[in-house]
Amino acid sequence: MKNCKRLLFVLFILSAFQVTAEPINPILKSEINEEVAAPPIGKTLNTDLKQKRNYPMQPPLIPHQTRDYQVNIKVNKCMSCHSRSRTEESQAPMVSVTHFMDRDGNFLAEISPRRYFCEQCHVTQSDVKPVVENTFVDIDSMLKKTGKE
Ligand code: HEC
Ligand code: HEC
Repeated sequence: MKNCKRLLFVLFILSAFQVTAEPINPILKSEINEEVAAPPIGKTLNTDLKQKRNYPMQPPLIPHQTRDYQVNIKVNKCMSCHSRSRTEESQAPMVSVTHFMDRDGNFLAEISPRRYFCEQCHVTQSDVKPVVENTFVDIDSMLKKTGKE
């Protein structure tokens, strides 16, 4: 009898945590135990045009597709166009000087290991509807709104 009461108490507590409104996986719009087809992957923008940066320290977005560009211990496809010695031929912008700095601010002869895996910071874009709403406002718009510009 005592155990039964305890069980009822636990069930009561658990029921208080039940949320039923949104599906658990908002990207697939399904419950976690349901198997649904994955949404199609958006087409990568390949415009070759610079896109606006939202804040000064933002790594520039990649304006070209990067499918099958390998970056591993042996090869770095990105550097075959973006390294200092290849830019004349590729007409790609050179990785900036920060990419040669170690964490103490010393300049190395080669790309710094901290900057080796380019797609840690640089990403391509797709022309798709955002999965979640984004309310980011950049500093210029914010200053304009408060009339402090
Ligand atoms: C075949 C040469 C080539 C390869 C390989 C390549 N890029 Fe590029 N990249 C370019 C060129 C050329 C541009 C200039 C814009 C354009 O023409 O697309 C560019 C532009 C960029 C820019 C924009 C720079 C800015 O100032 O706006 C970024 C970031 C970038 N590439 C990152 C990468 C990354 C990361 C990889 C590897 C996954 C990569 N690129 C591989 C040629 C290349
Ligand atoms: C830890 C983050 C990070 C990684 C990793 C990284 N970058 Fe960047 N990159 C940045 C930031 C931030 C900027 C803009 C400020 C600057 O130049 O440092 C930038 C700028 C650039 C630019 C524009 C340079 C210019 O002068 O306009 C290119 C091209 C670029 N990166 C390519 C690459 C490539 C290729 C790799 C891989 C070999 C790479 N980056 C790795 C953060 C990163």
